[in-house]
Amino acid sequence: MIAQRKDDHVRLAVEQQQQHDGRNQFDEVSFVHHALAGLDRTDVSLTTAFGGISWQVPLYINAMTGGSERTGAINRDLAVAAHETGVPIASGSMSAYFKDPDCADTFSVLRKENPDGFVIANVNATTSVDNALRAVDLIQADALQIHVNTVQETVMPEGDRSFSSWVPQIERIAAGAGVPVIVKEVGFGLSRETVRLLAGLGVRVADLGGRGGTDFARIENGRRELADYAYLTGWGQSTAACLLDAQDAPIPVLASGGVRQPLDVARALALGASGVGVSGTFLRTLLDGGVAALIAQISTWLDQLAALLTVLGARTPAALRHSDLLIHGELRDFCADRGIDIRSLARRSGSLDVPHETTGNTR
Ligand SMILES: Cc1cc2nc3c(=O)[nH]c(=O)nc-3n(C[C@H](O)[C@H](O)[C@H](O)COP(=O)(O)O)c2cc1C
Repeated sequence: MIAQRKDDHVRLAVEQQQQHDGRNQFDEVSFVHHALAGLDRTDVSLTTAFGGISWQVPLYINAMTGGSERTGAINRDLAVAAHETGVPIASGSMSAYFKDPDCADTFSVLRKENPDGFVIANVNATTSVDNALRAVDLIQADALQIHVNTVQETVMPEGDRSFSSWVPQIERIAAGAGVPVIVKEVGFGLSRETVRLLAGLGVRVADLGGRGGTDFARIENGRRELADYAYLTGWGQSTAACLLDAQDAPIPVLASGGVRQPLDVARALALGASGVGVSGTFLRTLLDGGVAALIAQISTWLDQLAALLTVLGARTPAALRHSDLLIHGELRDFCADRGIDIRSLARRSGSLDVPHETTGNTR
């Protein structure tokens, strides 16, 4: 049952990628261009550090799969790509392993092919602490993701219908996992209120997992006989909206959901993300062009991300948080309604300038 669902998810996610019109709310975020802000490329480093975690690059392959023969082969290729490019990688949900230990290899391949990489285990919010520890142990994980996905479960024909145990269970897992815990949405977004709640539960990092890419309401609706939840397509907050909403978050945030190219990575970092996760875009590349195509794509993204930081005058991903950003369209309305100050975002680099008169006056 789980193996079939995993194969369905891959098929429907790739179909969705092929049908996507290519637009999302990252298009409503632009950088103010400063023509003389540029640095030397050699001055730029892509390293990022957050919540006790350090990565060489602020880009990661986010949770997708495992649990069936086909998805085990996909995990092998994703792990090879992570190893070759140095990006961290998250496993798909490891529930299948708890139900059927025979599928362990479809997950442990993530560590086998990527012995020194940063690997993240993935469980749901009803997992016992013992099983969370088994998941971490199986792939020698450096961190653990707990996915929260009430909308997906609701539309999924065989999904959960009870969610009230999730908050106390997340707290138990965060206390007992032995590695940093990241809570992630799967494409509907974490609100600022949710991020604050998670911080109080001992969760180290929040992956905002917003709308704009893979839509699991649509995927699960495609698995329903009557397809009668079509009206939930597009539910939730976009990733850009989540980042704006979480400007004053008490824990570091990661961004994922609808990341299409290196400019989206730069936009997300400028909006406060410590790292940026990609699933659907990379899955499509892998299935269309094979592992060599995925390695080439990730390498190009990292190269172009460094190029963008060079143009924008940011020595590190964190320095992008001082770049001037313009917010347009519906995203602007969202900010107005949620009380988010976008005027200061548009002029924040000025606070770094040494005023010209000051230099003159002290002579
Ligand atoms: C085929 C597929 C399977 C997925 N399975 C999982 C999963 O098991 N656990 C999880 O936390 N997220 C899962 N996701 C969600 C992704 O991690 C991510 O949150 C979501 O796809 C939005 O990112 P994207 O727009 O880059 O695809 C899956 C995504 C895809 C495409």
